[in-house]
Amino acid sequence: MRILHLICSPRGHASASARRSHQMIEELLGSNNDVEVTVRCLSGSNMPHIDREFSMSSRAPGHVGDPFGSKLLSDELIEEVVESEAIVLATPMHNLTIPSALKAWIDHVVRPDRTFRYIDNKMVGLLTDRPVLVSLSRGNGALDGPDFLIPYLRTMFSVMGITSIEFFPLPNQDVDRGKLSASRHPLDLQLDAARETKHRLIQALWSQYW
Ligand SMILES: Cc1cc2nc3c(=O)[nH]c(=O)nc-3n(C[C@H](O)[C@H](O)[C@H](O)COP(=O)(O)O)c2cc1C
Repeated sequence: MRILHLICSPRGHASASARRSHQMIEELLGSNNDVEVTVRCLSGSNMPHIDREFSMSSRAPGHVGDPFGSKLLSDELIEEVVESEAIVLATPMHNLTIPSALKAWIDHVVRPDRTFRYIDNKMVGLLTDRPVLVSLSRGNGALDGPDFLIPYLRTMFSVMGITSIEFFPLPNQDVDRGKLSASRHPLDLQLDAARETKHRLIQALWSQYW
């Protein structure tokens, strides 16, 4: 099985959504001996916005020309999605929706004639369906308030043909930073132990953080 692991929090190893997603990956690894994981950390400068060339050419019918700039990145990111058989996505809610880094990833990946096609003015997905497991963390804000994250992500994956999306929400994840630095999260300790095992996939996941 090939899993694409997307981490969208800017908080690195302190991220609740990333921690939960590591657990999910471990669970998936536990039942499969033959798993490859590609990790893509989208936070900060890891995920640039689309550039001028991309915005001018990606929606221009018949546009030819050597890809460069963010079109090259778009090719790479699309390839990772196409190759995956499952996607584990870790994201916090930011201002009632997805973090801007995840929006930048969507702008690169939801691309005409690559992942969807316009047919009769509708966006029709070109990818085969695959499970998407979303580890979603929120703060202490109004939990009954508006949510533009879940419906938006559902819509954007389904635009590409991916409709099997499940959300695993972790509400109330705003933590006391003082306590966090004084004692390590149990999952960090668990994953430290895993690092000492020979499991190269777990090591690859954690190498993104250390
Ligand atoms: C810029 C910003 C905006 C946020 N907006 C919301 C929000 O609209 N609703 C909410 O419940 N939490 C909001 N939060 C809190 C985060 O979702 C919460 O801290 C989450 O647990 C962080 O997940 P992480 O540890 O994976 O980064 C916001 C946090 C930041 C930094």
